[in-house]
Amino acid sequence: MQGSATDPLVVIDEVNKHYGDLHVLKDINTTVRRGEVVVVIGPSGSGKSTLCRAINRLETIDSGTITIDGKKLPEEGKGLAQLRADVGMVFQSFNLFAHKTVLENVTLGPRQVRGMSKADADKQAMQLLERVGVANQANKLPSQLSGGQQQRVAIARSLAMDPKLILLDEPTSALDPEMINEVLEVMIGLAKDGMTMVVVTHEMGFARKAANRVLFMAEGEIVEEATPEQFFSNPQTPRAKDFLSKILTH
Ligand SMILES: Nc1ncnc2c1ncn2[C@@H]1O[C@H](COP(=O)(O)OP(=O)(O)OP(=O)(O)O)[C@@H](O)[C@H]1O
Ligand SMILES: [Mg+2]
Repeated sequence: MQGSATDPLVVIDEVNKHYGDLHVLKDINTTVRRGEVVVVIGPSGSGKSTLCRAINRLETIDSGTITIDGKKLPEEGKGLAQLRADVGMVFQSFNLFAHKTVLENVTLGPRQVRGMSKADADKQAMQLLERVGVANQANKLPSQLSGGQQQRVAIARSLAMDPKLILLDEPTSALDPEMINEVLEVMIGLAKDGMTMVVVTHEMGFARKAANRVLFMAEGEIVEEATPEQFFSNPQTPRAKDFLSKILTH
């Protein structure tokens, strides 16, 4: 049975991280519940990517704990591979394997990590490519696709692992304007289907439509945590007001 919407999936407790003298994550505390969509926004350098990367342990943390589905993040080895399979990640720069076809990109993880047969992996991949609207591109190489199509393949690839959670770090910011919406539509669809998502984005339309909660970060801290309605109409701090005045005029 699926967990209820109040069931905590990611619990971040007193997390701190430094890069040398730079304190990039400062006493971060937050919980992402199953089925929740959390949008992380904030100025450049505020620690948004570092936080995402810490959640699937692409970065280590100095203190505090992160648990996913009740389990502390593993240090290494098999547990780490399992974690990476459970936590999908979509980056700004797509990160598809350039010399593999779209279909191979989507089937690789399920075959290698989940031990799925080629026939099953192909069938699942075609369904996912259908869902993100690029099934007709399955046999092409990534370089033969538009940026928006590549990013939709990257989303399909992370879905293929049947993750508990997907982290998306500025998934539309490398895209030409006309391709942004096609990717946002896919993300809105995932949100509606109940996928748990942490999304770093400055796309306020997405935040308003799909987010349950907005985290506003500045200088390594979560400065505000609110519903999108509260945050956009009534930001509480000068830093959030200043940030919103800059991005909303663009
Ligand atoms: N590998 C690293 N080594 C040293 N410093 C780093 C490293 N990665 C990030 N930083 C620094 O940590 C801080 C937080 O970076 P991070 O990438 O998390 O910010 P961000 O909020 O994602 O910014 P942006 O909006 O530009 O993507 C920045 O000051 C950055 O320069
Ligand atoms: Mg970033």
